[in-house]
Amino acid sequence: MTEHWTPASWRNKPAKHVPTDYPDLAEVAKVEQVLRGMPPLVFAGEARRLKSLLGDVAEGRAFLLQGGDCAESFKEFHADNIRDTFRLILQMAVVLTFAGGKPVVKVGRMAGQFAKPRSSPVETVNGVELPSYRGDIINGMEFDEASRRPDPQRLLQAYGQSAATLNLLRAFAGGGYADLYNIHRWTLGFVADSPQGAKYRELSEKISEALTFMAAIGVTPESQPDLHRVEFFTSHEALLLGFEEAMTRVDSTSGEWYDTSAHLVWIGERTRQLDGAHIEFFRGIKNPIGVKCGPTMEPDDLLRLIDVLNPKNEPGRLTLYGRFGHDKIAERLPRLLQATKKSGRSVVWAIDPMHGNTLTAANGYKTRPFDRILSEVKSFVQIAEAEGVHPGGVHLEMTGQNVTECLGGARALSEGDLADRYHTHCDPRLNGEQALELAFLVAEKLKEERLEAALRAAI
Ligand code: PEP
Ligand code: CO
Repeated sequence: MTEHWTPASWRNKPAKHVPTDYPDLAEVAKVEQVLRGMPPLVFAGEARRLKSLLGDVAEGRAFLLQGGDCAESFKEFHADNIRDTFRLILQMAVVLTFAGGKPVVKVGRMAGQFAKPRSSPVETVNGVELPSYRGDIINGMEFDEASRRPDPQRLLQAYGQSAATLNLLRAFAGGGYADLYNIHRWTLGFVADSPQGAKYRELSEKISEALTFMAAIGVTPESQPDLHRVEFFTSHEALLLGFEEAMTRVDSTSGEWYDTSAHLVWIGERTRQLDGAHIEFFRGIKNPIGVKCGPTMEPDDLLRLIDVLNPKNEPGRLTLYGRFGHDKIAERLPRLLQATKKSGRSVVWAIDPMHGNTLTAANGYKTRPFDRILSEVKSFVQIAEAEGVHPGGVHLEMTGQNVTECLGGARALSEGDLADRYHTHCDPRLNGEQALELAFLVAEKLKEERLEAALRAAI
């Protein structure tokens, strides 16, 4: 793979899950040309900053929290949804920081997470076969022929929605909302009365006490402006390569190519073929990037991918997301951890406990049991510690909304509850309460492992 790279060189390679059935390809080219003239959504310097923070994660000094919708949609686009997921991430980050004693790098699956790979290109309902829904940036979810036809105008709408979402996120992150002195106010309404709400209140009181103590010794918001804001980054699966190509620009500072559609972009489980279009595109952009590693990934495949995607072995460049399933992780993860460790590859190892734990309930809903999600995260922490690798982070599908999409959790959502508020456009998400509960349980596990490691070191 030493051939010349350009933002368009992926076009000479086989591209899976990129639609080719637009009715008018000239219109697609025209839209992509319009996008090329649009302002970038993020700056190269911000992507470099995230890469440096992820470098800290790779070296064991920080933890990554990444989460948001499986698929953002035009229909669910609302300031309240953006705010609720943002504050859920803040709350979870506080819980994880407190337990882990390490900074938490906050990354939303937001402001661009639109395109979806699908297991089947077609869907059949009552004997009628139509193309599958592929995410709002490609086609519509309604089950009729017109909606399911790919429409290039959707690229422009997705760009506009991403820009507006990012604008609001930047305002929340820097404009006072994320001020640590507001920690009590981040609680989501429907979580307030739950056991997680009470636990969170307890924690926020401890933090407020610490802030009062710090103010008394002279560490005030005035002397430490960072207490007033958070660093927040965006990410999505860069699946629709025509869109990503159009957003890829030369950074005037470094002269290098950055995909300016998000700070971090990742390659999905279905598009990580070494000779495929996605790997070709990703090898040339300088953003921090991710790769999903499912149960079929072998150590040799992984090392070959790393050679192409991170040839200079830069810390923070590459994040690997294990997504095996609660019953497969113990068999599949250790060999991959051993491979990266033994060969001295600097990577962030994180866990996506969602995509290997999806099942279809008896009533037809696609869902995920909370216990299996928790079990895969706990196994991840335990296995990584045992292999001497930093369990670097979690990648979750979740929303601040009170949806009923995943089973279980403290309120023991049952199959019968799924129909109540099942709103996802693709995979089932943890709701705010389940996500916060997961953060507390993961925090406990991290703390336990930290204490055990300290004990081992002392013996
Ligand atoms: C996703 O993250 O929504 C996804 C499709 O994941 P994966 O590529 O791991 O299946
Ligand atoms: Co998903």
